[in-house]
Amino acid sequence: MQLVNTIAELRQIIGQYRRQGERIGFVPTMGNLHQGHIELVKQARARCERVVVSIFVNPLQFDRAADLAAYPRTLEQDCQRLTGLADLVFTPTPELMYPQGQAQQTTVNVPCIADVLEGALRPGHFRGVATVVCKLFNLVQPDLACFGEKDYQQLALIRKMTADLNLPLEILGVPTVRAEDGLALSSRNGYLSDQERSQAPELAATMRRLAERIQAGERDFATLVAAASLHLDQAGFHTDGIDIVDADTLNPITERSRAVVILMAAYLGKARLIDNQVVPL
Ligand code: PAJ
Repeated sequence: MQLVNTIAELRQIIGQYRRQGERIGFVPTMGNLHQGHIELVKQARARCERVVVSIFVNPLQFDRAADLAAYPRTLEQDCQRLTGLADLVFTPTPELMYPQGQAQQTTVNVPCIADVLEGALRPGHFRGVATVVCKLFNLVQPDLACFGEKDYQQLALIRKMTADLNLPLEILGVPTVRAEDGLALSSRNGYLSDQERSQAPELAATMRRLAERIQAGERDFATLVAAASLHLDQAGFHTDGIDIVDADTLNPITERSRAVVILMAAYLGKARLIDNQVVPL
């Protein structure tokens, strides 16, 4: 496994892969890898001769400097986990990705997705994600890139950017990897105390019950959301938003909607947990 932190070396190795006619799979990450990330790498491995993983804590997508500084950086452990699974790990510095600093002049925006829901709460976040992912796609030139369904809006954003800009690659969405008790794996779970960790699965359990009621035909979404939100607050969470929207467009449900997605966000102590589930109508 090669560890690369310059653009010249990255381009040289990628060029070699391409000349050999090898299919390149790519998994962008911010490191602090857990089994969810590893599943993306395995899915890429199963479909491609070469697998590239990037580890870059992207300053452009953080709205608060304190969050950026506190983000866990565990490069050595991450490399150990990737040994035998990835061919190349790209670990650029912020200076390499943004030589002009945060005022980098060209950015990628996908307003129809970036400005709603989570994006409305975090202005600039999804522009930062789209911009860094577009840059990484241009550097790695993958045939396939894997993203987790765990970050549903992010996956929708990347799919839309790829389609709108005619980027020549396939986007693969990978189902959320969960702990045995149902909690979606996340780097943020590390912020939970033991007691909070034992309460945390209630988020996914509440979401499943919500999904069952929609499947059973209930359509008064406002009432369902209010009840779920109250329940979570009573269970020790601080609900930060529950939305039920069209699963394809992330816009309000219309008569043409074929499926909805339930998007959940709630604080448990310091940790902001998110989860989602698609429900066919
Ligand atoms: P990060 O949070 O490190 O996540 C990297 C990838 O792992 C994302 O596609 C995310 O959806 C996926 N992932 C995280 N937890 C998962 C789980 N439990 N099951 C399945 N997949 C999971 O998302 C980012 O980094 C950044 O925004 C990035 C795309 C790298 C751009 O900076």
